[in-house]
Amino acid sequence: MSADDASPGPTTLWHGRLAGAPADALAALNDSLPFDQRMFAEDIAASRAHVSMLAAVGLLSDDECDGILAALEEVRSEIADGRMVWAPTDEDIHTAVERRATELCAAAAKMHTGRSRNDQVATDLRLWTRTAIDELTGLLLGLAGTLAGRAHEAHAAGVRLPGYTHLQQAQPVGLAHHLAAHAWALLRDVERLGDARRRTDVSPLGAGALAGSTLPLDPAAVAADLGFAAVFENSLDAVSDRDFVADTLYALAMSGIHLSRLGEEMILWASAEFGFVRLDDAFATGSSMMPQKKNPDVAELARGKAGRLIGHLTGLLATLKGLPLAYNKDLQEDKEPLFDAVDTVRAVAVAFDGLMQTVEFDADAMAAGADDPFAAATDLAEWLVAHGTAFREAHEIVAGLVRQALDAPDAGSRRSRLAELVAAHPDLGPEAAALLTPGSAHLSRNTPGAGGPDAVAAQLERLDVALTSARSLQDGR
Ligand code: ARG
Repeated sequence: MSADDASPGPTTLWHGRLAGAPADALAALNDSLPFDQRMFAEDIAASRAHVSMLAAVGLLSDDECDGILAALEEVRSEIADGRMVWAPTDEDIHTAVERRATELCAAAAKMHTGRSRNDQVATDLRLWTRTAIDELTGLLLGLAGTLAGRAHEAHAAGVRLPGYTHLQQAQPVGLAHHLAAHAWALLRDVERLGDARRRTDVSPLGAGALAGSTLPLDPAAVAADLGFAAVFENSLDAVSDRDFVADTLYALAMSGIHLSRLGEEMILWASAEFGFVRLDDAFATGSSMMPQKKNPDVAELARGKAGRLIGHLTGLLATLKGLPLAYNKDLQEDKEPLFDAVDTVRAVAVAFDGLMQTVEFDADAMAAGADDPFAAATDLAEWLVAHGTAFREAHEIVAGLVRQALDAPDAGSRRSRLAELVAAHPDLGPEAAALLTPGSAHLSRNTPGAGGPDAVAAQLERLDVALTSARSLQDGR
């Protein structure tokens, strides 16, 4: 069907310029209503602020303003209650709200005065993003709090595990230290979201299509009405800036990466090979074929979904990179990745919080690795250093003993062999061999920020302070 065959008469808000109705294929590509209707509350809030400002500067009478505000409230409740009857010509949430408001109140034909969908959509999306950031910040702080709580528990119980480098057992650390490491990462995500929020919190309304207006608009009043911390400086920048979306997607991708890394550990730790954790049945799945299986799907999905979060960030950056000023329809591609990223991080953070609240740690399985005498090899070298040997020489002495001990036929005799060799060595002896007794290597590493119990106790206090101040910053918003 060509555009000329389409039925005549008003179709869209911009029909005046074009002779026929839009082709179905254009509408299918162009319409954003299916996904941008979730910004309806923000669109109506922004319209309320705009209409109030138009009245304040004399572009609407008080009666017109009251009538439009009442119509907007009716549209809001129709959409919220699912009573809104969408029209085929509603190409996006902005046109839908204006169309319906005008049906309810003729004066609403004036509500787009001095405004373009270009500044309108940027405003709506900033309002939506600000709220989403606040919600996700709360969820990530909740998960960080859960990790801190489990860390306190593990600390009180003296639980230790082998720390790893290259996924090879390296040096023992408190389980509290390990859990707190993930909590600090989440706190950085919260800070990143806070940075993104600050750049989101700027009102673009009043920029018009690209160049402002000939009418006496008051962008600062609109910004204040909507609770924005600042107002745009440049109308071209205001309608084309999507840095706040990229900032948010980066913060969410980073958070997804942190959740993925924690997920990867829970997957490994739940395996028979590690046996460090038992997942609660409520946060594990079974196999449709293998009756014995218990699978860590929550952790696997946390790991898998990091991929789509990274994709959303890189996708948006690619969309933005070639755009000339000012608004281009390409910018409509900002919403779906953002919405999906927010939904994804929400779902993962909530499920992961449940997993971490309920997971059981196997202190004995962890201690078996943590107390392996080979994990105390560095302690032997440092003992030699404390008694006057140069570190390089000390490293070589201990490495030689480790190599000899590893010649023993089985794991048990390798461990006792190392203790015997240390006790018999002229530079080491029984005092050094005592460093190999179970639990000792974990206890003695207490430099600032270290994994030993005294250092971890101090760290956990600082973690609690950081969590409290992040929460109060959040509550103050
Ligand atoms: N749906 C559009 C978007 O998401 C709204 C802005 C449309 N502006 C325009 N000039 N056609 O970006």
